[in-house]
Amino acid sequence: MNIENLERRFSDIYGHSPQSVYFAPGRVNLIGEHIDYNGGRVFPCALDFGTYMCVSSRNDGKISMRSLNMPSGLLSDNDNISDKKNDWTDYPAGVFVEFSGLGYSGKGFDILYWGNIPARAGLSSSASLEVVTAVMLDDVYASELGRKEIARLSQRAENGFVGMNCGIMDQFAVAFGARNMAIALDCSTLDYELVTLDMDGYGLVIANSNKHHELVSSEYNTRRMESEAALEILRSKYGISHLCELSSRQLAESASMFRDDRIFRRARHAVSENERVTKAIACLKEGNLAGFGRLMNESHASLKCDYEVTGREMDILAEEALKIEGVLGSRITGGGFGGCTVSLVKKENIERFVSVLGETYKLKTGLKADFYVADIGDGARKLK
Ligand code: GLA
Repeated sequence: MNIENLERRFSDIYGHSPQSVYFAPGRVNLIGEHIDYNGGRVFPCALDFGTYMCVSSRNDGKISMRSLNMPSGLLSDNDNISDKKNDWTDYPAGVFVEFSGLGYSGKGFDILYWGNIPARAGLSSSASLEVVTAVMLDDVYASELGRKEIARLSQRAENGFVGMNCGIMDQFAVAFGARNMAIALDCSTLDYELVTLDMDGYGLVIANSNKHHELVSSEYNTRRMESEAALEILRSKYGISHLCELSSRQLAESASMFRDDRIFRRARHAVSENERVTKAIACLKEGNLAGFGRLMNESHASLKCDYEVTGREMDILAEEALKIEGVLGSRITGGGFGGCTVSLVKKENIERFVSVLGETYKLKTGLKADFYVADIGDGARKLK
């Protein structure tokens, strides 16, 4: 689907052309998983695929939303947009509600979305949908919120309206992405640095397990509560406000304070993952891709054993990947419990990687994996 086709579909549905078109990408996180809400550093980048949004204004104050990806739609006025529907429209509706809370409401719109991010794959189709909506409303209301506030507001929409207690990483990456750059983001301050992805003959390959876990959001919220429980135990001794303020040495010295080994392991993941991110950013800057790959592997192992968010299919994808020639690292990316892995693969081996890993995965799980060579693109923007 190209933009002209999308505009044509809009005209077929609404009987007039759209006035504007906006875009927000998906994201892949290279390292730094489940630590955005623990005040850690993360290292995501924006993809070159994402969510497109065609819009025109209506003068009856109603909001009509449809998606070419989803059967259900929404026709709502500004008042009842705040009724939760328990479907995809909750993501953009949450953003409308946030804008309304800032005093930006009253305008009506015809909206058509279309996206090419695989759903429920851990590549942030939700954040993309939220941020594209926020960028549109920011433009139309001339609210000039700035990208940080757009990211924060979109996160609030997901936390408050949708009920998924996510951190800031996805919305931030979608809003701030830049071509061929990864974003080194400190989630405790929202300070960030763009780091050039100088991959010297290597590429990033995303493998979609096509394994979906029904309980993603409840398991995710449980991990957050477990992290908070760990923080509560450590706060009295160290006076910290985030787990990632601790070093691995400090945590090891405090092991006896934990009665529940599970809570200790959650903290160990957060603290060690944060240290890995710092090292990984340095490796990338020095052109040490082998070092970067090793840290990716350690990250996966920690998410598997300490944070327990991987699962059999994801472990097979990440672990079998390492047996293939030309692979420096492989790990689960995103919230977990299914979804995708990202692997660092020598370019000349990518074709073989895809066929060998695809076959092994099929053999071991009965599932067919999909593969995408990740092109790193720009963040959310108005296209026309
Ligand atoms: C999901 C959340 C993010 C982040 C990741 C795990 O994608 O939306 O905030 O916590 O999981 O790193």
